[in-house]
Amino acid sequence: MSDAFSREKAGNEKTAKEEAAREISELRRQITEHEYRYYVLDDPVISDAEFDKLFRRLQQLEAQYPELMTPDSPTQRVGGQVSSAFRSVPHTRAVLSLANAFSELELSAFDRRAREISGAPQLDYVVEPKIDGLSVILRYENASLTLALTRGDGLSGEDVTANVRTIQSVPLVLRGIPGGTPEYLEVRGEVYLPKEDFRKLNEEREQNGLPLFANPRNAAAGSLRQLDPKVTASRPLRALFYEIRDLRGDLQMPQDETACLELLRTLGFPVPVYHYCRSIDEVIEVVSGWQESRHTLPYDIDGMAVKVQDRRIAQALGATGHSPRSQIAFKFPSEQVETKVNDIIVQVGRTGVLTPIAMLEPVTVSGSVVSRASLHNEDLVREKDVRIGDTVILQKAGDIIPEVVAVLQERRTGEEKQFSMPGECPSCGSPVVRPPGEVAHRCLNFSCPAQIKERLIHFCSRDAMDIRGLGPALIESLLQAGLVKDAGDLYSLTQEDIAKLPGMGQKSSQNLTEAIEASKSRGLHKFLYALGIRHVGLRTADLISGHLQSLDEIMNATEERLMMIEEIGPETAKAVVMFFKQDSVKQMIGKLRSAGVEAALKVQTYQDQAGPLSGKTLVLTGTLSSMTRHEAKEHIERLGGKVSSSVSRNTFALVAGSAPGSKLDRARALGVRVLTEDEFLDLVHGRSSVDGD
Ligand code: IVH
Repeated sequence: MSDAFSREKAGNEKTAKEEAAREISELRRQITEHEYRYYVLDDPVISDAEFDKLFRRLQQLEAQYPELMTPDSPTQRVGGQVSSAFRSVPHTRAVLSLANAFSELELSAFDRRAREISGAPQLDYVVEPKIDGLSVILRYENASLTLALTRGDGLSGEDVTANVRTIQSVPLVLRGIPGGTPEYLEVRGEVYLPKEDFRKLNEEREQNGLPLFANPRNAAAGSLRQLDPKVTASRPLRALFYEIRDLRGDLQMPQDETACLELLRTLGFPVPVYHYCRSIDEVIEVVSGWQESRHTLPYDIDGMAVKVQDRRIAQALGATGHSPRSQIAFKFPSEQVETKVNDIIVQVGRTGVLTPIAMLEPVTVSGSVVSRASLHNEDLVREKDVRIGDTVILQKAGDIIPEVVAVLQERRTGEEKQFSMPGECPSCGSPVVRPPGEVAHRCLNFSCPAQIKERLIHFCSRDAMDIRGLGPALIESLLQAGLVKDAGDLYSLTQEDIAKLPGMGQKSSQNLTEAIEASKSRGLHKFLYALGIRHVGLRTADLISGHLQSLDEIMNATEERLMMIEEIGPETAKAVVMFFKQDSVKQMIGKLRSAGVEAALKVQTYQDQAGPLSGKTLVLTGTLSSMTRHEAKEHIERLGGKVSSSVSRNTFALVAGSAPGSKLDRARALGVRVLTEDEFLDLVHGRSSVDGD
C-alpha cells in the first residue's frame, strides 16, 4: 500500500466519522425536540413511524461509531444494570406532603387562616389535579439528570435514577433557554401510569397468568421499583412535574407558582393542567368543575392541589409538621357503585372476634376491583339490614377500605336471606359468645386454628416483626405442614424445613431464615405489638415499653403498675396481665427466649451511633400533630439520642406537643430546655443544630 493511498483512506475515514458525528448530533436534537413536542407540548408534528425511523437511524450510527456514544443520548434511557436493592439517599431538605380539605367549608377555612397569618386581604391561587401516582425528586447538575429519588419517609428516599431515566417524558438533559442553564436544579413531580395503559397492562398480565395490579397507582409503584430497569422501560410510565425545589445559577427563582410551572415547561418538563384563580371562591368553582370531569383526564386523580400563587407569601406562611400552610389538597368525595351481595361469610380474627364479610359481585370502585367488604358485626348487619342476595351501594372509605353504604330495598325480590351469627366458631367449632357490653361475637378458644393463623400473620406483619416474605399463604403452608404452632416456633425453623414447602426453593428458604433472624432485633415495642394482645396497638405498645423496659418487667407487671402509665386504662391493663397468664403464652415466650429473641430486644440499635443527639436524653410530653410518639422516639434515636419517661436535671430537652402534662412544669422548674413541635421538627430535619438555637 502506498503512503499516499493509506493517507487518503485515513482521510476518508476521518471525514466519514466527522459526517457521522454531525448526523448523530442533528438526530439527537431532532429526537429530543419531537419528544418534547409529544410529551410536554402534547403537539406532535410527525407520525410515530417517522419518529421510529429517526430513532433507528441514530441507533444504527451509534452502533457503528461506539466512540461517539454519550450517556445523554435519547437511545440511552435503558442503560442501568440490574441491581439487588435501591440505595437510600438523604433528601436535601424534607419532602413535605399536603394537608387535606374534604369540603368547600374546609377550603374556605384554609383560605381564611392563610389570609389571617399573612395579613393579605385577598389571596390568589393555582389549582392543579392531584395526580394519584408516586412522588419523585429529580436533580439536574449542569443540565444533566444525575439523581432521581422516591419520597421515602420524607427525609431520605430510594435511588431510582436508572428506572426514572427510562420514562420518556423525563428530560435527560434540560432544554437550553435564553436566560441560561441552571447549574443545579431540583424538581418534584409525580410518576404515573395512564389509565388506558393500566387497563392494557392488566389485560396482558391476565393472559399470562400473572397477578393483577389493584389500581394504576400500584402498577406505577411496582413498575418504578423494579430492580431491572428494562422491566420499567417496558411499562409506559409518564411523569408530570409541579414544583421547583431548588434552582442555582443564572436563572432566578420565579416569584409565583404559575411562573414556576412555565419555567418547568420551558426547561423541558411536562406539567399538569393548571388554573389561576383570583379568590377562594374561584378555587371552589374550579374544583367542583373538576369533580364532575375528573374521569376525562387520562390519569387517575384523587383531588385537586390548591396553592397560594405568590411564593413569597407561601414562604412566609411556612409549614406545620408535614405540610405547608400555603397549599392544601381538596379530596373528592368517594365514588359510589352498585353491586350484589352473593354471600355473607364469617371470618375469625386473631383475638377471636367473628366478623361478617359481604362477598360481593366483583365491581370496580375508585380505581380497583372489590369483591368483599367487612360488615363489622351482627348489629351493623341488622342496622343496615343487609341480606344475602341484596343489591347494595358500595364506596371506599377514605378511598381505600370498601364499605357497604346502604341496601337498595326496592330491588328486593323476596328471595334474599337474612344473616345471623353462627352459634359455633366456623374454624374450631367452639361455642361462640357475645360478652356483655360488646358488639363482637367471639370464639374464646386460644388454640382455634383461625386465631393461630391470624396471630401469626399479625406477628410477621410490617408494623410488627416485619418478617419479609412471610405472608398469609406461606404461614398457611407452615401450619399445614405442622412446622409451627405459634410464633415461638418460627425461630427454630431450618432452611431444610422450609425448602420442603410447596413453591419454596433453596434461595427463597435462605432468604426467609435470614428475614426471621433479622426480625429478632426489631425492638421491645414492636415485639409487644406483635404479640397481638387485645387493646395493645402500636401506640400502647410504645407507651408500655417506654416505661417497663424489659419483657420480664412487662410480664410481671400488675394491673396497678400498668395503670400508672399515662393513657393506659383498666381494660388494657387487664388484657395485658391476662395475656401473660395463659400457659400457651408462657410456652411461646419460653421458645422465643431460647431462640435469643428476648436478648436481642434489649439491643438499642441507634443509641451507640454518633449523631447530633449522641449521649443526650430527651423526654416527650403531650400530643405531636405530625407524628406518633413512637415516630418521635425513632427520630431521636436515629440522631443518637435516648428517650426517657421522666424529666430530670440530666434531661437535655423536653419536646412538648399540645396538651402537655406535668412534665412541662417540672422541666420549667428544673430549667430544662423545652422544644415546641416545630422546633423539634427543625432539629429532626436538620434545619437547626443542637447547640445553635
Ligand atoms: S404539591 C408540599 N401538587 O400528592 C407538598 N402534590 O401530599 C407538595 N401530588 O405526595 C406537593 N399531584 O406526591 C402537589 N399537583 C400536585 C400533586 C401532588 C400529586 C402528590 C404528591 C404528594 C401528595 C400530597
